[in-house]
Amino acid sequence: MTEPQTEPYVVTGDEKAAKGSKRRQVEVVESEDPNAPLLEVRDLSVEFTTDDGIVKAVQNVSYTLHAKETLGIVGESGSGKTVTSMAILGLLPKRRAKITGDVLFRGRSIIGLPDKQLAAIRGKRIAMVFQDALAALNPVLRVGDQIAEAIAVHTDEQVATTDDRVVHLLDLVGIPNPRDRATQYPHEYSGGMRQRAMIAMSIANDPDVIIADEPTTALDVTIQAQVLEVFERIQERTSSALLLITHDLGVVAGVTDRILVMYAGRQVETGTVDDVFYRPSHPYTQGLLASLPRLDQRREGGERQRLHRIKGQPPSLIFLPPGCAFAPRCPNAVAGTCDVERPALREVDRGHESACHFASELYEGSKEPVS
Ligand SMILES: Nc1ncnc2c1ncn2[C@@H]1O[C@H](COP(=O)(O)OP(=O)(O)OP(=O)(O)O)[C@@H](O)[C@H]1O
Ligand code: SF4
Ligand SMILES: [Mg+2]
Repeated sequence: MTEPQTEPYVVTGDEKAAKGSKRRQVEVVESEDPNAPLLEVRDLSVEFTTDDGIVKAVQNVSYTLHAKETLGIVGESGSGKTVTSMAILGLLPKRRAKITGDVLFRGRSIIGLPDKQLAAIRGKRIAMVFQDALAALNPVLRVGDQIAEAIAVHTDEQVATTDDRVVHLLDLVGIPNPRDRATQYPHEYSGGMRQRAMIAMSIANDPDVIIADEPTTALDVTIQAQVLEVFERIQERTSSALLLITHDLGVVAGVTDRILVMYAGRQVETGTVDDVFYRPSHPYTQGLLASLPRLDQRREGGERQRLHRIKGQPPSLIFLPPGCAFAPRCPNAVAGTCDVERPALREVDRGHESACHFASELYEGSKEPVS
């Protein structure tokens, strides 16, 4: 990825006011509170009705996201990361998904808003970089057209494929020769470039919140780092908040302020990056950390240590085990307690929570730095 050669088109507050253009006028919504956190997810649960039974995809997830903040949501495949975000944006199938709890954007409840009002929020206030960039991009439209459309959808303007704003956005995310590339189709882009084109679309309207669902999964480590840098650069310029979803704890280490670990649809640990990495207080988080490859750990005699693996599989979200959902895989499970009683999320330190019956003991025992 090359460094952007031109100044990216990101409109600042002053510029917005100076231009006074319809395109950048932010809709004034009375019910929004400018002093409230950008995003508050409160006790959010999502259930799907299927032929096999009720899928409890997300249960009682809560978090708060402030301007400029980055929250990493981490968990194995199927733990409910994507469903949580889709629920925020009202993108789940209405008839099959039952959503409870609340989501507040700047203090205004947005769960269950009519489609028209949600459409005004999507992309403009809260934007999403979808997990599968190839599926999310339209194969028969030029990339520049798709970005132009993302700009035009919240305005009355016609935006051309190679409009300066389109080119600047592609440049900002590090697409080389952005003016030429704007006229190409998604299949002419590499996987990493498609991902970056998706990011360009997501930031087209200068959103307050960017939800990036596995934005680096398909990429090699060098490009991964570059894509994460793109987010950092965008946040510096626009003060947006970032929700970074990934199954890889390693990805969030350097870029997020806080981490929320999910297991089987529930949040099992939340804290700052230091809390989670240096004082993990849930056996699942400890297992995830132990399974990260590390070059500095060797056994006596110089033999390389084998990677730790969390044994077993996550449970069915239709037939969740009674008690703690992690109990069948947990090395610390205590029969008669863990398999009977569901552990509540409890605070082990200020802002650091764990949903384990033995959270306090684990917290005390894990105060030694991990690395
Ligand atoms: N429309 C749906 N109908 C029924 N079940 C669904 C639906 N969408 C998602 N699920 C189920 O909800 C659970 C959580 O899915 P989700 O996509 O949020 O997982 P994820 O954590 O994002 O996983 P991955 O890392 O693989 O992307 C899964 O068991 C999934 O099968
Ligand atoms: S509650 Fe029990 S089974 Fe669940 S994570 Fe804690 S020790 Fe393990
Ligand atoms: Mg997902």
